[in-house]
Amino acid sequence: MVIKVCVGSSCHLKGSYNVIEAFKEILKKYDVEDLVDLQASFCLGHCAQGVTVQCETPDTLLLHNVSAENAEELFASQVYPLIQK
Ligand code: FES
Repeated sequence: MVIKVCVGSSCHLKGSYNVIEAFKEILKKYDVEDLVDLQASFCLGHCAQGVTVQCETPDTLLLHNVSAENAEELFASQVYPLIQK
């Protein structure tokens, strides 16, 4: 799975860098580093609801208002179940 964290200007100001760092830790913690390609992305077109994270599964899952604080909760509830082990 590819996970793209938006680093467009609006999301950048809202803390994209911290979200990427949080996701790195979370992928390690859940032992799925090998199964997920974590990338930075240009503007994903949902600036008002940033930080935006796009997960490319067979369908595209968009996460909005992602922060370092809620990243693990969002990952565990919405993304982890979609990762093919
Ligand atoms: S800057 Fe992130 S969605 Fe536009």
